[in-house]
Amino acid sequence: MVAIDGPAGSGKSSVSKEVARRLGWGFLDTGAAYRALAWHAAASGVDTEDAASVVSCLDSFDYAIGTDPAGYAVRVGSVDVTEAIREPGISAIVSAVARIPEVRTHLIEVFRAIMAAEERAGIVVEGRDITTVVAPDAPVRILLTASEEARVARRSAELVGHSVSTTGEQLRRRDLADSKVVDFMNAAEGVTTVDSTELDFDQTVEAVIAVIRDSQAHA
Ligand code: DC
Repeated sequence: MVAIDGPAGSGKSSVSKEVARRLGWGFLDTGAAYRALAWHAAASGVDTEDAASVVSCLDSFDYAIGTDPAGYAVRVGSVDVTEAIREPGISAIVSAVARIPEVRTHLIEVFRAIMAAEERAGIVVEGRDITTVVAPDAPVRILLTASEEARVARRSAELVGHSVSTTGEQLRRRDLADSKVVDFMNAAEGVTTVDSTELDFDQTVEAVIAVIRDSQAHA
């Protein structure tokens, strides 16, 4: 199992998915689960700033997250929310949902069950607290970082029609809110940092695979 953490815009979702595809492993995007819950709460008419109401949504939170990097999809009930959970409206409310302790406890249990089921085949799991809380004993743990400038530029390129300054402000606000819950800016002991500031997508994928191969060689 490979655990990968990092801030918004570090490229960790797309890089982790491609690493999993090249290794023939499963892939779990934990941020997508927090996003799916934020989507479900909003679709249920719940005020996402009200923790008790969000927690009450957990009972009706029927979601499925695939682990196949080639056919990646997220569903809530019968709705395919793969695209909808990436909308800026969800990015704006997801931090409030993710900081609720009951939400984290619930989802971490789900993640561990998925990891246990896929452990033998191999799985790349990415998020904010995977290397430190969800799977601190993972054989390979990586912090994928990039300068704030590079992360804002990448996010702006993804979000057509949004200005760099708006994107930068949103990204900074979200990182600030999220980093109050878990520290994903500094590598914990034993975690290898891959800084992608000067690397393109393919070079970043190669750098992550090199860390995995290196730790397998020394296992
Ligand atoms: O990686 P992302 O932007 O899709 O994550 C969405 C939100 O979920 C983000 O604001 C932080 C939160 N998150 C978290 O708290 N813990 C995780 N393991 C993954 C994501």
